[in-house]
Amino acid sequence: MPTTTSAAFDSSRESPVPATGQSSPTHRYSLGQRCRSFYHELWYRLSERVRWSRKPYHEMPVGRLTDLATWQQTCIESLQSRYGLCFESLYGRHTSLANYAYLDLLDQAWAAADRPVPTGGRVTDVGCANFWYARTLYRFFRPATLTGVDVEGFRLYPTGYSRYDAAAGYIANLAHTSFVIANYCERNEQVDVITAWFPFVTPAPVLAWRLPLTVFSPERLFARIARNLAPGGTFFMVNQGTEEAAIAAGYCRRAGLHSQDEWMQPRPLRPRPHPPVASWWTA
Ligand SMILES: C[S@@+](CC[C@H](N)C(=O)[O-])C[C@H]1O[C@@H](n2cnc3c(N)ncnc32)[C@H](O)[C@@H]1O
Repeated sequence: MPTTTSAAFDSSRESPVPATGQSSPTHRYSLGQRCRSFYHELWYRLSERVRWSRKPYHEMPVGRLTDLATWQQTCIESLQSRYGLCFESLYGRHTSLANYAYLDLLDQAWAAADRPVPTGGRVTDVGCANFWYARTLYRFFRPATLTGVDVEGFRLYPTGYSRYDAAAGYIANLAHTSFVIANYCERNEQVDVITAWFPFVTPAPVLAWRLPLTVFSPERLFARIARNLAPGGTFFMVNQGTEEAAIAAGYCRRAGLHSQDEWMQPRPLRPRPHPPVASWWTA
């Protein structure tokens, strides 16, 4: 475990995403999709140009989680005692529950697969959004370094804070942890563990997340994950349901990754439209 406490916050753009109007050579989009993509591209470009930032944003802690089913309460208490975490003393209700849900998935998945958790290594999370679950990854993997990478850094929230500000708040006090704004397809690194929670593997969710289709390039993304994984390293991915997991698995295989295991969560702590499917890959 690292002993120093300063959390690095690296927002340097490492490389640009493809220029406006370019699209992946392997995907064909409808006119409607292209129009929506163009609209999102304008806002995305504008936010990345303005780079709006005030200061690290810290959520107002909810204090206590109420109105939970008994089984949810029991699950959370078990996670709290085993991992020594109390998200509700740091975050609002939504983020607290979402963190418990991700921690519960990690906890159950690795136990079900009977795999030793690779602690103490370099961990990167690909497509981390504002890295609201950094603390969960930090506690679970106890990493030497933890890096969250997202292609969009300056989305503006109704609070007047940007994604950058939110990420700075979430990683505050986590040693050797950083939030990097970059297209992961362009990132060069060697890490022991790469995680990806719900990566885009079809175009519709990209548009639903108000992003342009120019950032959608799963072939390049998975190829880069395979390339950046250190020998013996682990790529851990979570997808929405079996259909999406199968599409993602296809990309993994074509990128040269080898499947080690797959597990579907029977009862997620927070209900989802499709059950999360976890999978483990090696380069
Ligand atoms: C469906 S969201 C999942 C967000 C987060 N993992 C979670 O579980 O809340 C996918 C995220 O991947 C990011 N993303 C998509 N393509 C990317 C790329 N090439 N490099 C880095 N981030 C990317 C998007 O900006 C978005 O935040």
